[in-house]
Amino acid sequence: MYNFLLSLLIKDMQAFYKQLGLVNTHNLFAKASQGGYAIPAFNFNNLEQLQAIISAAVKTSSPVILQVSAGARKYANQTLLRYLAEGAVAYAKELGKNIPIVLHLDHGDSLELVRSCVESGFSSVMIDGSHLDYEANVALTKSVVEYAKLYDVSVEGELGILAGVEDEVSSKTHTYTEPDQVEDFVKRTEVNSLAIAIGTSHGAFKFKPGTNPEIRMDILTEIAKRIPHFPIVLHGSSSIPHQYVDQINEYGGKLENAIGIPEDQLRLAAKSAVCKINIDSDGRLAMTAAIRKVLATSPAEFDPRKYLGPARDALEELYIHKIINVLGSNNQA
Ligand code: G3H
Ligand code: 13P
Ligand code: ZN
Repeated sequence: MYNFLLSLLIKDMQAFYKQLGLVNTHNLFAKASQGGYAIPAFNFNNLEQLQAIISAAVKTSSPVILQVSAGARKYANQTLLRYLAEGAVAYAKELGKNIPIVLHLDHGDSLELVRSCVESGFSSVMIDGSHLDYEANVALTKSVVEYAKLYDVSVEGELGILAGVEDEVSSKTHTYTEPDQVEDFVKRTEVNSLAIAIGTSHGAFKFKPGTNPEIRMDILTEIAKRIPHFPIVLHGSSSIPHQYVDQINEYGGKLENAIGIPEDQLRLAAKSAVCKINIDSDGRLAMTAAIRKVLATSPAEFDPRKYLGPARDALEELYIHKIINVLGSNNQA
């Protein structure tokens, strides 16, 4: 009886994100791996960011991963975010294109959080056990995969530690992913994709001024040799475009020594084993630069649409550029 009820429940749940019109990452990554491009994973916390992401993905005919962090769930309310994502599917159709859209939990830290997301319609989750010791990371990741499989939800794991500080994610130093560990990790956990540490980091200050902003393509190549055709994920992949930093500083901001990952290096990574690239900070900079400019040049303005609108336009332009010139995922929807 219990098993029967459970199977009914699971059947219901399986259909859940699919009922919302969302997809998991399985096919997207298989195609990206074959085609030498990466799927964009853009973080969102509010309506304008979501509008810009969907509009850019529709205009470029690109699949897209809507990425929600634990911090975003706290900020925007988990229920509202889930309805926004459902609305995003309808919005894309209204704009004229039925693009594949994934709703993904970014940096999940527990099975409990993963469950809550899957139950509210997420089609993909990350379980980030990278700060745990190796065996504990394997055990946590495996437990999440076992659960997520029941619902056909895809799971991203992580090996290696990225430096950088965000609301919920922080570490002072890098620990590069050890190529000797990846095969064992992927086999034992059965994850669908693997985030690796090769010198990218979260936030706007990725390299010390005067040092060479370079990611370790040699480690990526080694990892790809150990797990051929397996989807690799790069976090911390904002490029911190100087035009946004300059505009922020011109209109009263103070961002010093902000340095990101050069876009040509990300393009190379996307052409090789990397199937998903995470970008959040560049969007934050684009929005902030646009808002600062409006507020500084039109001090009497107090209608939020007058500064959030330009911020949304700047974001859309950024995402279109990323999709075409960095990810290469245009015309792959
Ligand atoms: O990797 C972290 C993402 O940029 C999300 O940042 O935790 O501040 O929402 P957040
Ligand atoms: P950035 O801070 O470089 O945009 O990285 C975002 C990220 O990795 C989200 O998981
Ligand atoms: Zn990240």
